[in-house]
Amino acid sequence: MKKITIAIDGHSSCGKSTMAKDLARQIGYIYIDSGAMYRCCTLFCMQQGLINADGSIQEEAFEQRMSEIHVSFRLNAETGRPDTYLNNICVEREIRTMEVSSHVSPVAALPFVRAAMTAQQQEMGREGGIVMDGRDIGTAVFPHAEMKVFVTASDEVRAQRRYDELQAKGEPCDFQQILENLRERDRIDSTRAVAPLRKADDALVLDNSNLTIDQQNAWLLEQFHKIAG
Ligand code: CDP
Repeated sequence: MKKITIAIDGHSSCGKSTMAKDLARQIGYIYIDSGAMYRCCTLFCMQQGLINADGSIQEEAFEQRMSEIHVSFRLNAETGRPDTYLNNICVEREIRTMEVSSHVSPVAALPFVRAAMTAQQQEMGREGGIVMDGRDIGTAVFPHAEMKVFVTASDEVRAQRRYDELQAKGEPCDFQQILENLRERDRIDSTRAVAPLRKADDALVLDNSNLTIDQQNAWLLEQFHKIAG
């Protein structure tokens, strides 16, 4: 059977990664978390002192150093899931902190960052057989993807899910701060000039506010079988 390309886009913390990962595992496709790539760019800026105290970014210096950023994914045998590596160092935990979340959307809005990451993502998906999740996968990265899904859920449900996830990892977090962060990221992601977050015209829509993980996975698998045949 020909392997297709699957693009899963949507708002912050709506469970896209969970459903994309599970689908990829079930159908034997590669899973790529494009958000992790933007988070790596953000972590790099933080480590190199390219973010000022007021949150502004030293854009010129950052652009000159963009070629120093190499993101890769390697399967973690223990969790059965891919871990994210920045320049060969595992940063899976570091990129998920609130500090990275608070800087990532302005970093991801920079045109030179998007150009570099989009090129890497297109290269990763050149042969199909890939599930990629993010904000612009069905619109800008793979506009010809055979299967596109746009996921959303209510703000409160999304904030609660992210809160539970951080709590489970033992990361310090505050519900109100998470809610504000995801609203602010959605605003920046949807209004930026290059590849803003929006539903592709041909995307299926899934509001998973009231669905369990099993229910959403079953829905996604059913759509896959309808499309891939
Ligand atoms: O998992 P969560 O919803 O918190 O976000 P993520 O998927 O890890 O993405 C983090 C941030 O990266 C988003 O808020 C966007 O600013 C940016 N991003 C993007 O611009 N384009 C993508 N394809 C994926 C993420």
